[in-house]
Amino acid sequence: MATFLRELSYRHQWLYDSISRTAALSVGGEDRFRTLAFKDLEIHVDTAILDLCCGSGQTTEYLVRASDAVIGLDASPRSIERAQANVPQAQYVQAFAQDLPFEDNHFDLVHTSAALHEMTPDTLNRIIWEVFRVLKPGGIFALADFHKPTNLAFWLGLAPFFWLFETETAWQFVEIDLLGLLSAVGFQRCDRQLHAGGSLQIIRGHK
Ligand SMILES: C[S@@+](CC[C@H](N)C(=O)[O-])C[C@H]1O[C@@H](n2cnc3c(N)ncnc32)[C@H](O)[C@@H]1O
Repeated sequence: MATFLRELSYRHQWLYDSISRTAALSVGGEDRFRTLAFKDLEIHVDTAILDLCCGSGQTTEYLVRASDAVIGLDASPRSIERAQANVPQAQYVQAFAQDLPFEDNHFDLVHTSAALHEMTPDTLNRIIWEVFRVLKPGGIFALADFHKPTNLAFWLGLAPFFWLFETETAWQFVEIDLLGLLSAVGFQRCDRQLHAGGSLQIIRGHK
């Protein structure tokens, strides 16, 4: 059921975007949700940014407003095709996040939203190592993803969403000590902000 509905939402962008916009209401709307992870960072026109697992460019659209050097990466050819049409200001690469086709120390900022919860714990670990590798020293990893609600009322929205659209990886993800994983890889000054009753986490770590 969950995989069928997820595939349906990936096949029809209007469905994915409608769900995403509805969920974003919990943090004040789409614009706020899409920029929460990087809005207060110093981003210049030449800041090299990787939007990891960019989907159809939902957040890439906001990143290109700040920098002319944005690359979107996704494993899905369909997503890359759509992102190219939706946000032509960025460059795109079709590849797996756990095997990044970039040299070491390349990016100032790696951003990812609403994607890491789809990874198995092993893949997630490999992705974090790869992100660390491709970031420049001093570079920042900024991510937005689910978190176990601290306000139990938010489970009323999150649990049905997980049952309908997610797989066991989302349930595993909210149990993972992500800050600990980042620190173990070498990220420093890792911090987490919680939003929407604790159901959304913004994490930033510095290389
Ligand atoms: C839920 S969408 C998130 C899209 C977008 N970042 C957003 O904020 O709405 C997750 C995306 O991750 C991509 N993805 C899943 N596993 C991946 C992997 N191992 N490597 C690269 N992309 C992956 C999927 O193709 C999909 O486009």
